Amino acid sequence: MSIIKISTALHLGKQNMKMPGLFVRSMSITAEPKQQSDIKPKTGILMLNMGGPINTDKVPEYLLRIMTDRDMIQLPVQSQLGPWIAKRRTPDVQKKYAEIGGGSPILKWTNIQGELLCKQLDKVSPDTAPHKHYVAFRYTDPLTEDTLQQIEEDGVEHTIIFSQYPQYSCATTGSSFNAIYKYYRQKQLPKNMKWSIIDRWATHPLLVKTFAERIRAELVQFPSDIRNDVLILFSAHSLPLKAVNRGDAYPSEVGATVALVMQELNHCNPHSLVWQSKVGPLPWLAPFTDDAIKGYVKQGKKNFILVPIAFVNEHIETLHELDIEYCHELAQEVGVERIRRAAAPNDHALFIDAMTDIVTTHMRSDQPIKPKFLTRCPHCVNENCARSKDWYAQICKV
Ligand code: FES
Repeated sequence: MSIIKISTALHLGKQNMKMPGLFVRSMSITAEPKQQSDIKPKTGILMLNMGGPINTDKVPEYLLRIMTDRDMIQLPVQSQLGPWIAKRRTPDVQKKYAEIGGGSPILKWTNIQGELLCKQLDKVSPDTAPHKHYVAFRYTDPLTEDTLQQIEEDGVEHTIIFSQYPQYSCATTGSSFNAIYKYYRQKQLPKNMKWSIIDRWATHPLLVKTFAERIRAELVQFPSDIRNDVLILFSAHSLPLKAVNRGDAYPSEVGATVALVMQELNHCNPHSLVWQSKVGPLPWLAPFTDDAIKGYVKQGKKNFILVPIAFVNEHIETLHELDIEYCHELAQEVGVERIRRAAAPNDHALFIDAMTDIVTTHMRSDQPIKPKFLTRCPHCVNENCARSKDWYAQICKV
């Protein structure tokens, strides 16, 4: 079966497909919900994420924004090297998006999640209703700056900045928060708007249950005589070791999620935490997911479940890197017997409950901002972090 056929089937949401000796994860995308454009919202939920190009034409500008964002990546002579790398990588990245159906589904999933979240919030928290979700992407439309303008036009009373990364990294969540700060550095804050922040939620019990359910749904697909031996490989986007050594919280927060998911599963299977998507020649956090699969096969392990543990919706790294490059190509190459991939949380009911609980608990608390958010990495040298955190401490005052 060709890669194109696999990706098309994944995109269209067919059921799990069997191939000789291996399985590939299926996904289902329901229709994109309607925007709540006709109501004046009292509470705005600003959903931060990096985003993904909606079609292959958007890839060049998407890569250019990433490669010139010094919060995300630090390169020597970045203003020249960044655009050069973005241009050089464009054809390869466009090809990958073409192979997963032509574009990233992050916007579709975020809108579905936001719509379902706000419906539940309206029910459980009528005092703060109506709620409306806003999508703020860092590198593609809807860009953070445009969404902030929309929030101002809508006259939202309370904006809750809700990072869609469960585990905090300065390269991802931190970059989005710095972008909001930079936007308002140039202009007046909207009058009478209240601000508060949800910056991380790696250990939320319902997030943990969601991942556990996603894993159970895959485990039962294995024959009962080998089910207990299936190796669960939690896979998260890697990080340059330079960032890890600065004190970025991400690796420890991902580890916390993994530990709680395994506890929820009663440690039913062997597991390991591995890292994917390294780019460039510099050292990154390892072991890498593909090397781990190869290593475990050498040790005699033949059955795997890959679990994307640090992203809440399907994206290029699940649909291409995990599904096509590892579950199909690599698995065949190294002689894996069975391999499945757990779906991202997407629109799982438990996940929407998790989001609802995170937001309602936040709204009822007397902490609009947490001390951890205001604490920089011990070796942070980025002045944007210092200025931005001071600014958030001011605007989120109780
Ligand atoms: Fe982590 Fe600046 S790099 S706070």
